[in-house]
Amino acid sequence: METKKNDNPDKVRIGVLVSGGGTNLQAIIDSCESGILKDIAEIAAVISNKADAYALERAKKHGIYSKFIDRKNFQGNAAFCQEIAKELKSRGVKLICLAGYLCMITPELIKEFKGNIINIHPALLPKFGGKGMYGHNVHETVLKSGDKESGATVHWVNEIYDNGEIIIQKRVSVIPNDTPESLAKRILPVEHQIYPEAILKIIKEGLKIKG
Ligand code: GRF
Repeated sequence: METKKNDNPDKVRIGVLVSGGGTNLQAIIDSCESGILKDIAEIAAVISNKADAYALERAKKHGIYSKFIDRKNFQGNAAFCQEIAKELKSRGVKLICLAGYLCMITPELIKEFKGNIINIHPALLPKFGGKGMYGHNVHETVLKSGDKESGATVHWVNEIYDNGEIIIQKRVSVIPNDTPESLAKRILPVEHQIYPEAILKIIKEGLKIKG
């Protein structure tokens, strides 16, 4: 579904990949509509691998093109990612933002977008990243480690989970009696702040970037 027109051809067209609630997507939408990304970027497509991801509703509410692509219809992740690439290219996307996207990205997809793919992670990478480190698990592991701080990181995506170069990172204190839920709740608003900031930073620096 699409209702909006590209009102400024100079805006960088962003594609957002999601699997869940989409509060980070919302932060990017709001920044493009009336925040730090206004006149600089716009969301050209939101793609979900989950039919019931609330992120899709958020996109629709803002008249943003959105689509559920069912992985079951493809033989393997490579074919699935190829379809995503096709979809995003047809929408003129230059920068891909992963926002709570829970599937692996293939090297081909990364190459196709010249490495212009970024992700947000709810911890201070390179600590507490990698396979299985998402959602509740991340915060639980941070608390078990006894670390006195956690935070959020926006980073470039490469072939290894949570391994790409860091773009922006912000710290959040761990406080006594924190639970994974309370820590996640304090980190989330920081994610919403730094994701648009990271997008602004890389667009200003010339969208590279890696390629
Ligand atoms: C965020 O904590 C993000 O860091 C992680 O997944 C969560 C997604 O939340 N990658 P939302 O869907 O943006 O609300």
